[in-house]
Amino acid sequence: MARYRVAVIPGDGVGNEVAAEANRVLTAAATRFGFDVGLENFVWSCDWYLQHGEMMPEDALDTLAGFDAIFLGCIGDAAKVPDDVSLTMLLAIRKGFDQYVNLRPIRLYPGVTTPIATATPETVDMIVVRENTEGEYSRLGGMFKVGSPEGFALQTGVFTQKGCERVIRYAFDLARSRRKLGAGPIVGRVTNCTKSNALNYSMVFWDKVYDAVAAGYPDVATDKALVDAITMWFVKNPEAFDVIVASNLFGDIITDLGSMLQGGMGMAAGGNIDPERRHPSMFEPIHGSAPKYTGMGRVNPIASIEAVRMMLDHLGENAAADAVGQAIADVLVAGDIRTRDLDGTSSTSEVGKAIAGRIG
Ligand code: IPM
Ligand code: MN
Repeated sequence: MARYRVAVIPGDGVGNEVAAEANRVLTAAATRFGFDVGLENFVWSCDWYLQHGEMMPEDALDTLAGFDAIFLGCIGDAAKVPDDVSLTMLLAIRKGFDQYVNLRPIRLYPGVTTPIATATPETVDMIVVRENTEGEYSRLGGMFKVGSPEGFALQTGVFTQKGCERVIRYAFDLARSRRKLGAGPIVGRVTNCTKSNALNYSMVFWDKVYDAVAAGYPDVATDKALVDAITMWFVKNPEAFDVIVASNLFGDIITDLGSMLQGGMGMAAGGNIDPERRHPSMFEPIHGSAPKYTGMGRVNPIASIEAVRMMLDHLGENAAADAVGQAIADVLVAGDIRTRDLDGTSSTSEVGKAIAGRIG
């Protein structure tokens, strides 16, 4: 029997509540599909910081390295630790494990309404491939003469040949295997999310790498859009998108907009992937920790359950992943059990139990 060791880091705020439902669904899928999951919980969080002066132990990556995958709830509680300190933990794992692809599917489940009139299950089916280890998130720069009239800050982006090329290549490979456009010699499309009209070094460089990689994929359609225009086109013509490849910051921004196409932050998940599988990949809802709702059992666990679906796919348990996706869809279509963000009255655990029940 296949056995997977999964590290669970619930994090802060509502993290414990959503992680509990992710665990429930993962366990149900394992029972139904005949594999074994060993879950191990790590309480690294802002509370941990208050006790230990760090978000996670110094050897945390060594500890996590032995796992097959990581589930991360949500990190951050500004009342306890400043966000730019607490979030170093997330960035340290992404970078430390060279999880250079942040995969963020944008798909609208049936039975979910969104504030965007163009969004239907037929029109919203795209996936953002976000660079996850460098770019604008390189954390290089400094603050100088702070508080004086001459004060200034520098924040440097780093775009390497290797870093750009590998993530763009991943996007093209993904477009080949997704087959969104169906029949014909063109198997998919990769939209280059750029801003090379204004960012005259980094994004011009990025575009050059994109063009060079694209030349190796004559069977995949190419497309280029400035990040500001993408925010408009996502709303106006969501059906025009298949795979979108974006730098770290741009990918972050457009996937928040994407979450509204999906029915809100309660629906959006992502995977931080090491495609070479040298290290564990990490799966998470992309929402924050919503400290004010902690312990109220009111937040939507579907983003976390979607993260489990992605994790199962990554682990090669594709039938189990499909069953999780189907169970989410079934519960949403039935419509009677849903949380408040989807205009329901159900609790976090009622939704988790309903989805797990459909799998079992
Ligand atoms: C995300 C988050 C993080 C990011 C923050 C919390 C650092 O917004 O995962 O989308 O910007 O990557
Ligand atoms: Mn974000």
